[in-house]
Amino acid sequence: MRLTLMVSFFPLVVITSGCQPGAGNSGEIVIGHYGSMTGSEATFGQSTDNGIKLAVEEINEAGGIGGQKIRLITYDDKGDAREAGTAVTRLTTRDGVVAVLGEVASGLSLAGAPVCQEAGVPMVSPSSTNPKVTNIGDMIFRVCFIDPFQGAVCAKFAREHEGLKAGKAAILTDQGSPYSVGLQEEFEKAFTGLGGTIVSKQTYQGGDQDFSAQLTAIRSSEPDIVFVPGYYTDVGNVALQARKLGLKTPMLGGDGWDSSKLGEIAGEAIEGCFYSNHYSHEDPNPRVQAFIKKYAERYNQTPDGLAALGYDAARILFDAMQRAESLEGKALAAELSKTKDFDGVTGSISIDGDRNAVKPAVILEMKNGKPKFVTTIQP
Ligand code: PHE
Repeated sequence: MRLTLMVSFFPLVVITSGCQPGAGNSGEIVIGHYGSMTGSEATFGQSTDNGIKLAVEEINEAGGIGGQKIRLITYDDKGDAREAGTAVTRLTTRDGVVAVLGEVASGLSLAGAPVCQEAGVPMVSPSSTNPKVTNIGDMIFRVCFIDPFQGAVCAKFAREHEGLKAGKAAILTDQGSPYSVGLQEEFEKAFTGLGGTIVSKQTYQGGDQDFSAQLTAIRSSEPDIVFVPGYYTDVGNVALQARKLGLKTPMLGGDGWDSSKLGEIAGEAIEGCFYSNHYSHEDPNPRVQAFIKKYAERYNQTPDGLAALGYDAARILFDAMQRAESLEGKALAAELSKTKDFDGVTGSISIDGDRNAVKPAVILEMKNGKPKFVTTIQP
């Protein structure tokens, strides 16, 4: 097995009659997390895991669920769809988890969700925004908004923000990423619906190193904005190359930009660019500030949106566990569906009939290598 086990491995969870699934003989409740702990989206998995761990520590300090402590098993899927499927299979079969948290990237949630659905184990994605993820079935939930909303948020911002008022947009999409492709479609629909024109549509493959052909074509289409719905490592490289080619147009993206690495990779090249996200660390809400303080004490870092979403996903799961009659999949899923007005760090969370959350989005601007709050856009 090439999977990295992040937490000490508990031999095999023995499920005996009279014992709840996932409650080992030590009286623990075992939950799983699969994420990209390494690879080009490593901060996605790491931040999410940090957020989840904080929530686990809190619930355990408070006595656990019905007197049983939570034990988290995290597997690194390395940002790879096959690894993601294997990790979830291992969690649901060998480890006997009662629920799974993950993934961040929609393409990886689409690989893990069918395994959870088949096994009858609830899965809560903290941050996958592609609508198809929760369509997999009634065991699959998320605590974030979805891309038809996020695409519209970006389009509205591009069209209306003072200093942008973009009429012409170029788009650069990662064609191998369901997230990127889906968000691009939603942006295009909304942007043209608001009277804008798409002047160039270019594609790349995640991990590409040379974007000069696409960026040259974009430059000659003279856009007012370049929409890049990709993940931070690629976006950073795109920005660097765009500026080298003399393409000075501001860039705009979605939540996939959310990483402290973006500013480190792109430096000056990403200054003044915008992206939509689930949370801003500048939100003065006391609940948000309390989380930031706790997280900073624990990890010596300012939490990004993924840390906040991981924390919220775990807390929603524990909340449902507290209410559930048993931790059996159907009973737990039924309680997850009833989540209403949960006071999350990323906003008030209610799970709708499609097992999605309806929440506002924020727009952030890169300034001195860091995301600065610009505005909130309501659903
Ligand atoms: N929404 C992205 C996806 O579905 C994942 C993501 C969420 C990345 C939040 C960064 C921050 O693939």
